[in-house]
Amino acid sequence: MELQNRVKFPATASCLDKDGYITEEFIDYQLARVRGGCGLNTPEDCRVHARTASSHNLGIWNDTFIPGMKQLSEAIHAEGGKICVQFDKGGLANWLVAPEKPVFIPSDITFYSRDFKGVDKAMIHEVAESYGSAAARAAKIPLKI
Ligand SMILES: Cc1cc2nc3c(=O)[nH]c(=O)nc-3n(C[C@H](O)[C@H](O)[C@H](O)COP(=O)(O)O)c2cc1C
Repeated sequence: MELQNRVKFPATASCLDKDGYITEEFIDYQLARVRGGCGLNTPEDCRVHARTASSHNLGIWNDTFIPGMKQLSEAIHAEGGKICVQFDKGGLANWLVAPEKPVFIPSDITFYSRDFKGVDKAMIHEVAESYGSAAARAAKIPLKI
C-alpha cells in the first residue's frame, strides 16, 4: 500500500460514535486528521464481539455497521488518506467503562480488588469466531492500495 507520507494517526477512542455507529461528527474528526497530514488513519478500536461490546466504541460485530464504515472509508480516500481498522473485544479496560458486560480475559486476575475468571475453551472459540466474522465484514469496506 502506498501512503502519502509516513505519518500514522493511531487508534484513539473519541466517543463520537452513536451506539457503535459512525456519525457525521466522527467522520469530520477523522477528516481533520487526514487534512492535517496523517497518511494512515486508524479510527478507534472497533468491537468485534457483541456480548462484550460497550457503547463507547465503534462496532463491527454485525453487518449493520458496514454502511457507516464504507462512508468513512470513502471520505478518507477522497481526501487522499488511507484507513486501517483496529479490532478489539471487551476485556479489562472495557469493564472500567461498561461494568455490566462480561469480561473475556486470558487468565484469572484480580483487578481493582475484584477477581475475574479467565476464559474457558468455549469462550475462546466464541471470540475467535467473532474476529473472523469481523475480518470478513471489513473486507467489504472499499480498499485503496
Ligand atoms: C483518548 C485516547 C484514546 C485512545 N484510544 C485507543 C484505542 O482505541 N486503541 C489503541 O490501541 N490505543 C488507544 N489509545 C492509545 C494511543 O493510540 C497511543 O498509542 C497512545 O496515546 C501513545 O501515543 P502518544 O504517546 O503519542 O500519546 C488512546 C489514547 C488516548 C489518549
